[in-house]
Amino acid sequence: MNSVLVYNLAFLPVFLSIFLPNNLFGPTIVFAHTNADDDTDAVPLDTFVTSRPRDPRSAVPEKFYNAPQNCNPHPYMYLINPSTLCVHKDEVFLLILVRTIFSQFERRMAIRETWGDKKNFRNVSVVVAFLFGRDQDLHLQPSIHRESEIYKDIIQEDFIESYDNLTLKTVMAWKWARLYCLHATFVMVMNDEMFVDIFKLIPYLRQISLKSEYVDHFALCYYFPCCDLVYRRGKYAAANYSSTAYPEYCSGVAYAASMKVINQLYLMSIDTPMFMPDDAWIGVLAEKLRLKFIDTDYVFEGISVKNGILKKFMNPDYLGSATMIAVLDYVFPNKEAVIIRHLWRLVLDHHRKSFLRNQVAVKKMNLNTDWEILEANNVFYLVAYMMFVDVFVVGIILCLLFYRRKIKLGCKASYQCLNY
Ligand SMILES: *[C@@H]1O[C@H](CO)[C@@H](O)[C@H](O)[C@H]1NC(C)=O
Ligand SMILES: *[C@@H]1O[C@H](CO)[C@@H](O)[C@H](O)[C@H]1NC(C)=O
Ligand SMILES: *[C@@H]1O[C@H](CO)[C@@H](O)[C@H](O)[C@H]1NC(C)=O
Repeated sequence: MNSVLVYNLAFLPVFLSIFLPNNLFGPTIVFAHTNADDDTDAVPLDTFVTSRPRDPRSAVPEKFYNAPQNCNPHPYMYLINPSTLCVHKDEVFLLILVRTIFSQFERRMAIRETWGDKKNFRNVSVVVAFLFGRDQDLHLQPSIHRESEIYKDIIQEDFIESYDNLTLKTVMAWKWARLYCLHATFVMVMNDEMFVDIFKLIPYLRQISLKSEYVDHFALCYYFPCCDLVYRRGKYAAANYSSTAYPEYCSGVAYAASMKVINQLYLMSIDTPMFMPDDAWIGVLAEKLRLKFIDTDYVFEGISVKNGILKKFMNPDYLGSATMIAVLDYVFPNKEAVIIRHLWRLVLDHHRKSFLRNQVAVKKMNLNTDWEILEANNVFYLVAYMMFVDVFVVGIILCLLFYRRKIKLGCKASYQCLNY
């Protein structure tokens, strides 16, 4: 019932906007063709990268090392490009690019209203944007534009939206980061069926950023070591990859890396033929670049343990655990948005309780920067607490008065007794 209400309310602005006056003459498809290469306003970190020589024991076929330069350019146009998302900010600590498709509006709303809400980031600069391809159904385009006008967080390129084109969406994420958010410290690329405890993620990344080696690493990675066997059938069947094994790679559901790494991946992608699955392909690029991996499987919940998510997030010891990301696809099919909102309530509750219990400990954990929002939510608790204190003090005063009166009465009584 509740979720139906949320669903309807969430759609309301989009439906309303379709009927707004500027649309009186029928929906217009505004293809804002912006050629990304025309308006680069940031200074690139590296302008080219070179591949390391192939190790003869490598699982990666030689053709990925010997491919001609510029064999895989990414020439797609932007249909929607909020190019100033990062520009007005001096510092962008984390750029989060979420791969989504038009029909997953509910998931996007859930993310916008929970962990991706701007209000969470008042004291830390985080930018969240959603990545779209071009839907084959052109009638959807006006709705995408409406959504973009309302939330201003949609990036869209004109390649055809499809599962096999997920690799293009990955490159799209890197390219946009490089062109329009080059000053970001970290970039996270992820799918839309994910829950992120942003209050854990930011301090975690802050800690990583204190170590100078972080720039050459994946900072967050559900790690697959070499040499996973290549699937030839099913959803994850590898196309155009002739080897029997993959190199090491991070799962594509969500990974984060320094801007330097993202920039290098983009540059290397131009000289490397593509294949699906896209995360294994990223492994090929990483091998050519000699990037270093970090294994943070323990922060992910849901990839291997299907029923563990709710248990993990409801556990009273949740805050002390490493869990901060939940992967919801397959585990809760078609319920991702509801679960995202549910997990958000659980997580806020954990953080709020610990905040009330021990503010000093929270400060020590270095979480203080992201706590303003929770403090605001705590006004209710504060008022309740003050009322409790008031009742307590008034009670003591009343007791004292009553006690004095009782003494007087007692005296009167004994006096009367004496008189008797
Ligand atoms: C991927 O996008 C390109 C460019 O729009 C298109 O030509 C191609 O057909 C798409 N591939 C699939 C499998 O949809
Ligand atoms: C595989 O290679 C063929 C041509 O060699 C190409 O048309 C196709 O797009 C490639 N598939 C992927 C997923 O890159
Ligand atoms: C967060 O805000 C406080 C003051 O409200 C400031 O002292 C601190 O430097 C800020 N932290 C960051 C990371 O901006």
